[in-house]
Amino acid sequence: MQHDSRFPRLHIVDHPLIQHKLSIMRDKNTCTKDFRALLREIALLMGYEVTRNLPLTTHSIETPLCRFDAPVLADKKPVIVPILRAGLGMADGFLELMPSARVGHIGMYRDENKRPVEYLVKLPDLEGRTFFLVDPMLATGYSAAHGVDVLKKQGVQGKDIIFMSLLCAPEGMETFQKLHPDVEVYTASLDDHLNEKAYIVPGLGDAGDRLYGTL
Ligand code: URA
Repeated sequence: MQHDSRFPRLHIVDHPLIQHKLSIMRDKNTCTKDFRALLREIALLMGYEVTRNLPLTTHSIETPLCRFDAPVLADKKPVIVPILRAGLGMADGFLELMPSARVGHIGMYRDENKRPVEYLVKLPDLEGRTFFLVDPMLATGYSAAHGVDVLKKQGVQGKDIIFMSLLCAPEGMETFQKLHPDVEVYTASLDDHLNEKAYIVPGLGDAGDRLYGTL
């Protein structure tokens, strides 16, 4: 895991398999089918790191040999919350790792000023759960921050929210950490910068379009 001194809550998951798969995703010649499969695989691999601190308790079971206090996840089922639409591609992989997780949805699009406009919020009951908010691109940071706002407004605390992205831009991370300094962020890469059209550079283009073939 790598860290950047500018962003104390940012964790860069630098596992070689993730980095290799990400490089294929960045290539403009990678087709939709491969892009989708790779996003799913990376989300699953990142999920392993992102869930590392989920609290455990014990549950008494009987093995074929004896009674045993076996470690099990302590809290209620975690919630995966994709930010639509590109977040869906990450949620799929993450769900393979945690098949009993609940799934919430937050729908947003970017208006002409690249600001998020919310059109859908559907969440399970919130009490006692950890929330994994997923969106492949943390670009300006406004959609990510708005997703966290939605959860916090409903009473979820920052310590119970983890944001997972594939790529993030330093400008977006700066904005996000100012607005939500209490939320951990995991990413596969902290890229170089945002361009004038709010695309991450070097990036991979429009994640939603590449995921769904709507280029
Ligand atoms: N959203 C994308 O899909 N790509 C970017 O580079 C930035 C935001």
